Amino acid sequence: MRVLVTGGSGFIGSHVVDRLLMHGHDPRIFDLVHPWRHGSDAVECVTGDILDGMSLREAMRGCDGVIHLAAVADVDEVALDPLRADLVNTRGTAVVLDAARDEDVRHVVYGSTIWVYGNAPGSDALDEDVPLVAPDHFYTATKLAGEMYCRSYGRMFGLEPTILRFGIPHGPRARAATVVAKFVARAFAGEPISINGDGSQARQFVYVEDLADGVVASLIPAALGRTFNLVGDENISVREIAAIVQGLIADVSIVHASGRVGDLGQVRISAERARAELGWQAETSFADGVARYVAWVAGTNGSPSSATASRINGSAPTVLRQESGAL
Ligand SMILES: NC(=O)c1ccc[n+]([C@@H]2O[C@H](COP(=O)([O-])OP(=O)(O)OC[C@H]3O[C@@H](n4cnc5c(N)ncnc54)[C@H](O)[C@@H]3O)[C@@H](O)[C@H]2O)c1
Repeated sequence: MRVLVTGGSGFIGSHVVDRLLMHGHDPRIFDLVHPWRHGSDAVECVTGDILDGMSLREAMRGCDGVIHLAAVADVDEVALDPLRADLVNTRGTAVVLDAARDEDVRHVVYGSTIWVYGNAPGSDALDEDVPLVAPDHFYTATKLAGEMYCRSYGRMFGLEPTILRFGIPHGPRARAATVVAKFVARAFAGEPISINGDGSQARQFVYVEDLADGVVASLIPAALGRTFNLVGDENISVREIAAIVQGLIADVSIVHASGRVGDLGQVRISAERARAELGWQAETSFADGVARYVAWVAGTNGSPSSATASRINGSAPTVLRQESGAL
């Protein structure tokens, strides 16, 4: 299957491209930044902005599917520049859907997040049909708007996008701002690990290579029009992450900072539908995934990391200049 991956140079997208190749698909990357990992001899790469409908349509031509991952994905960056996040995450998703409709691309997969469950009430594990409450964080609002656009395009124009709600990904090539990456960098530097709040807040993580397998598994026709949670089973608190990192690297001290506004609440999420319908489940334990990340950092010094344009507020040429300046 020929598949366009928007955001294919990013953390999750680069692993999705690897997995597509591994499963015999023919991926094409569309991203603001040129991928550092996949040379253009291995994978076709188009440098462009998803807000530019013309180049997106051109890149989609002849594709059987689109995996849409391009976004401002860092919640703190969203807080710093909500209008940019609105543009890329919300309008950008509409542009992707519209281009898919025009180019008759049958299968659109949208990368959403378990943040849409917010502070949903109840103690049972939440499945994909649970009614969602209005989001607190602006990031969640933009991702939820993207989900709604997917549904509307389904109803109005016959597209049947697949919506994937990702758990918190971790593993090699993680962005430096993600929690495991931050803690590991601190421990390697012999500096204290900083925890927001008391650290009891827990998350369902997912090892990024497992997640990428789930994304590729969702390209089957039976997944059209369906929503799936792609999460690991373990619920890991921030304190536990710190303890695992201390055990693997160095027993650095822990300091506490104030909690984050609009953070994901304490919810349990079920991945049962993905297991039953896609045959997917997360295979890698959290501790094993962190150990693999630590080995990757030790082996590569964390570089090249997943440089992302979503961190940089600018056009593609500006971003490329900034990137090469940083090298
Ligand atoms: N990382 C997480 O914690 C997480 C959790 C759940 C869902 N998600 C979703 O998964 C997707 C991928 O996240 P990620 O962690 O890999 O993020 P990332 O920032 O590593 O990758 C995003 C990619 O999108 C590209 N991009 C940004 N704006 C673009 C634009 N206008 N045009 C073209 N490309 C653009 C960036 O250059 C980058 O390569 C996002 O949709 C995100 O919302 C991420």
